[in-house]
Amino acid sequence: MLASGRGSNLAALLEARARGELPVEFVLVGSDKASAPALRLAEAAGIPTLALDPRSYPDRRAFDVDLFARLKASGAEWLVLAGFMRVLDGEALRPWVGRIINIHPSLLPKYRGLHTHRRALEACDAEHGASVHFVTAELDGGPVIAQACLPIEPGDDEERLAQRLLPLEHRLLPAVLRLLAEGRLQWDGRAPRFDGELLVAPLRLGDHGLQPQQRPAPAPSSP
Ligand code: GAR
Repeated sequence: MLASGRGSNLAALLEARARGELPVEFVLVGSDKASAPALRLAEAAGIPTLALDPRSYPDRRAFDVDLFARLKASGAEWLVLAGFMRVLDGEALRPWVGRIINIHPSLLPKYRGLHTHRRALEACDAEHGASVHFVTAELDGGPVIAQACLPIEPGDDEERLAQRLLPLEHRLLPAVLRLLAEGRLQWDGRAPRFDGELLVAPLRLGDHGLQPQQRPAPAPSSP
């Protein structure tokens, strides 16, 4: 797991595991900020931590190369970015492609990058949400696995919208990680597959967990 800040998504994963809903072992929580509360959460849970300071590397690439070397040494098979606020070097992450996921607070492909809540409000969108996607060299551009949506309400400002979205993020990320751990979700480098089938649209988080989106019924053929 990599996290730069608060760590509420990390906490949600730890809680899901404690409830017996997440068949994974957390081997390392890393951060680019030694003061990240996410690291304190990990320590409290007895998970080894790693803090690397980007300022002590000559450039971005050198940081990423060292980071990924340490992640590999930890024995991690999967990498989860949960509020990790750095752009990763495409070359350095290449060996992990297909085994690294990220949670992003927008309905991708809308609003890659920062200030997603503000941008959804400014665009007068009717709905907003969060996405979990496979990470590629393209920022927030890898194949989207699953999304959680919520309607934007008249009283929403940036903060309120972020606050209302967060509980959905906390269900979305563990649900996706569970599917990966169970082998129900894979990416062969070209397309994600869910239960062996090509994932043509992101899974949707509903009351009963993640569900494939209904495909429109084929148009009746004319006589
Ligand atoms: C979450 O809202 C997550 O979606 C977002 O950062 C927050 C981290 O919160 N991630 C990004 O913006 C990545 N581009 P947390 O530290 O409480 O989990």
